[in-house]
Amino acid sequence: MDILGIGYVGVESPNYRDWRTFGPEVLGFGLAAPPEGDETVYLRMDDRRYRIAVHPGESEQVAYIGWEIPNRPAYDAAVAKLRKAGVEVTVGDAELAERRGVTELVRFNDPVGYQHELFYGQKFDQRSFVPGRRHAGFVADELGVGHMVLIVPEYPPELDDFLANVMGFRWFGHGANGHRGQIGFWATNLTTLSHNIAYGMIPGHRGLHHIGIGVNDLDDVGIAHDLVQERGTGMVYSLGKHTQDPVISFYPITPSGFAFEYLNGGMTSPDWGLISERNPETLSVWGHKPVSPGLPKSVTQVAKTD
Ligand SMILES: [Fe+2]
Repeated sequence: MDILGIGYVGVESPNYRDWRTFGPEVLGFGLAAPPEGDETVYLRMDDRRYRIAVHPGESEQVAYIGWEIPNRPAYDAAVAKLRKAGVEVTVGDAELAERRGVTELVRFNDPVGYQHELFYGQKFDQRSFVPGRRHAGFVADELGVGHMVLIVPEYPPELDDFLANVMGFRWFGHGANGHRGQIGFWATNLTTLSHNIAYGMIPGHRGLHHIGIGVNDLDDVGIAHDLVQERGTGMVYSLGKHTQDPVISFYPITPSGFAFEYLNGGMTSPDWGLISERNPETLSVWGHKPVSPGLPKSVTQVAKTD
């Protein structure tokens, strides 16, 4: 199916209030005014109404991942494909579509239980984006939010089948030092980014590890790195340059426990089919030193089912 990228992400968090300062002041997100009576913190990266929604909730979890379809005919074809594949699809009503700020959407789960949505027609307001601090802007628009890394207790073959044959994603590769069935990086069929989503297996665990977002200017990575150190909000990995997709990034910890990969640069290609799968010897060319060892608190142990 035709998918551009991650149009929006929703997370739930008991610490949602802290995002109102952390989001704009440290990371430079804009803030969108929520509807009356809604405590959700809506964070902006560009002229779209919002990109990341932090809803009040009892535990730290990713609530939904919204994939952008270019237009209505492509959306109709995508929904038909989901149904043909036997995926249980719930049509979002007009009230939900208004809350999400899109024309239409459907909801469904992947084979490992994460909730996804497909939509088209995300609301925008031209030249309305104002960053939360001095900032040269985010890589967003048609490329969307960026990428997400989700932890799963197992990586069943149905997951690969779903991502490749139902969602129609393109395989990018295993993570550095990853092996088949342990971690998979995937991209939508229409993007020039190297990857939009990765599922990494850690037995007995699930949750959001990080959301990767791009900024236009390397200086904004450095400034955010300074601010995180000054405020003591913590980071998973220090500043560094990856090997597989050579972005310069660091991993600030959010009030919800998961990290952002706050990045600049990296690979883009109009034809990924001509690039051989990258299998680097090391995760990073330099840097990315572990600062907060262990898993983010958004990744939790799951109850054993056997
Ligand atoms: Fe990443």
